[in-house]
Amino acid sequence: MLKLGVNIDHVATLREARYRGRGFGEPDPIEAARMCEAAGAHGVTAHLREDRRHIQDRDIRKLREIVTTRLNLEMANAPEIVTLALELKPDIVCMVPERRQEVTTEGGLDVAAHLLALATTRQRLNDAGIEVSFFIAPDAAQVEAAAKAGAQFIELHTGALAEHFSEPAQREGELARLAAAARQAHELGLRVNAGHGLNYGNLPFLRHVPHLVELNIGHSIVSRAVAVGLPAAVKEMLELMQDYQG
Ligand code: PXP
Repeated sequence: MLKLGVNIDHVATLREARYRGRGFGEPDPIEAARMCEAAGAHGVTAHLREDRRHIQDRDIRKLREIVTTRLNLEMANAPEIVTLALELKPDIVCMVPERRQEVTTEGGLDVAAHLLALATTRQRLNDAGIEVSFFIAPDAAQVEAAAKAGAQFIELHTGALAEHFSEPAQREGELARLAAAARQAHELGLRVNAGHGLNYGNLPFLRHVPHLVELNIGHSIVSRAVAVGLPAAVKEMLELMQDYQG
């Protein structure tokens, strides 16, 4: 069964828009995480950025206490954040790019260019019992580098699919790239997640991409929650995902 990790960053974005630096405020991403889990989400995802623009350290600490499914911490390979991850031990870390030089032209983490540094952090996290994923573009060189660096998972960047979704030729091209990368990763023994820009409209097209284990979805679910509430928004997404055959 395809699993859903709900990314709650945008709940924190809304809070920070009004309460930045105050140490409290609404809406509360912790409460949102509880609601997502109660609605059937298989995990909660949050990105602790170096600039702390949405999720704060206290959010991650609290999430570690209350998440009973699976906590996925998205983070850059930055020393202070690696230290925090080693202390808090999320279930999985997804390494993402934050600085321009860490990004491939397609927007994923440039694992090939930072192989040694990423493999070293991957090893430290694994040694602490944390699984590691790399957020990469559907690109053969990056998939190969992720396997070389010893990751357990890759998360395929679906941003280009979302971007070109309304143009059939480009959409088919992006789906073919995602499918090829998923097959290659699977053959190399990597487990395959996907995320970024997925929504209620483009999600059914992922039936063309094999081997997917989990989707990480944030913006569309939080946006839909404004209209129908967070539990219903999560349930609607889970329902759409039920048709995925792998
Ligand atoms: N996966 C990763 C690695 C991300 O960084 C993000 C947030 O940008 C997401 C998934 C969720 O993306 P979205 O909010 O567009 O659903």
